[in-house]
Amino acid sequence: MAGELGNKLNVAVYVVGGFVRDLLLGRKNLDLDLVVEGDGIAFAKKLAHRLGGRVRQHTKFKTAIIIYTNAAGEEERLDVATARLEYYEQPASLPTVELSSIKMDLYRRDFTINALAIQLSHDKFGKLIDFFGAQKDIRDKLIRVLHSLSFVEDPTRILRAIRFETRFEFTIGPQTTKLIKNALQLKLVTKLSGSRVLHELQAIFNEVSPYQSLARMQEFGALEAIHPALTLSPTKSKILKEVEKVVEWYRMLYTQPSPEPWVIYLLGLTSASKAEEVEEVLERLHFTPKQYNDFMSLRETVKTVANTLGKVRPDAYSHLYNLLVSIPLEGVLYMMARTKSETIKKNISHFLAYLRTTTLDITGADLQLLGFAPGPIFGEVLRKTLWAKLDEKVKTRQEQLDFAYR
Ligand code: CTP
Repeated sequence: MAGELGNKLNVAVYVVGGFVRDLLLGRKNLDLDLVVEGDGIAFAKKLAHRLGGRVRQHTKFKTAIIIYTNAAGEEERLDVATARLEYYEQPASLPTVELSSIKMDLYRRDFTINALAIQLSHDKFGKLIDFFGAQKDIRDKLIRVLHSLSFVEDPTRILRAIRFETRFEFTIGPQTTKLIKNALQLKLVTKLSGSRVLHELQAIFNEVSPYQSLARMQEFGALEAIHPALTLSPTKSKILKEVEKVVEWYRMLYTQPSPEPWVIYLLGLTSASKAEEVEEVLERLHFTPKQYNDFMSLRETVKTVANTLGKVRPDAYSHLYNLLVSIPLEGVLYMMARTKSETIKKNISHFLAYLRTTTLDITGADLQLLGFAPGPIFGEVLRKTLWAKLDEKVKTRQEQLDFAYR
């Protein structure tokens, strides 16, 4: 449909970036990025109309996002960018050359593997456009930049290179490795805003094997460049590997609620640091006051609660429930990763599998029928009945009613 519209408007339309890369790699990717040689915003508005969606436009960057509902009834997003015709100044007296705008658009991207396009419009529908040897790099499993200033233009690409290397089991090419080392020596990471660094770290922690990326960052000195307190030690590495296992275990068993993995990894990365150092790290990462308070208090909570978890008796699960129920899931999973005790691991697992979702079969309405006057007593009776159910002292609805009435 996008190609047809391109033909009608007489503009060339391409699908670019991650989608094309993943197509060649045989990986699923539903994020479509389109580039239009022409007025991208006008194109997006017309396409949105055809899709029955809406457009959010960014006039300054000539980009737009189309939000629409697909055939399966799910909300999807489609990014549309404008490729401008640019003139490329040649050195000395050579004539100025006009590069096709799609080529310039692709040239500005991070790595060759992300600089592929497929033409959708005109008679070239489906034509793969590869100006920079991306297909060969995919075959050779290489992450390579397109030009030597890539990391100077955008130092977050250092972390992106490492993330893609881990994700695809590729290797960063030798020249690109040198450029990363140079960029780190020039302290370019220091110039990055905290929120951009945090965003890249979050992306790494959302991947399947973050520890491998962390080890690579350590090798390059990239963790130290963010903050020296983040440097890995053998103990920290062990903790982070455990965090990875626990996060994977949780993802396999439960879809909801889903934790924010970056919080768990950051607890691990700062586990050996004093509070003042952690404060510096959070400042560097530009935490909001709320994020800052939440993180610091979670750090304290897990330290305190972890010590008590081993002392819970198997017949007193209500105690376990009360210890864990108000702790964010990230803290609970972190404690699971940190403990060496099988009993504690089992207790946490029992809490996640059963206790946290246990509900009563009776409500306030039942209490009213039993003759209780509405008021704070309701909460108290229901809470105590829930504890009794958690401790397996009452099971059926009738047993719960009898217990509440006592
Ligand atoms: N890009 C870039 N430099 C960056 C970030 C992004 O050149 N610092 C380009 C890349 O060409 C990338 C595209 O913008 O393909 C879209 O970025 P993003 O959605 O972050 O990348 P994907 O490659 O789609 O990655 P992912 O698979 O993680 O979504």
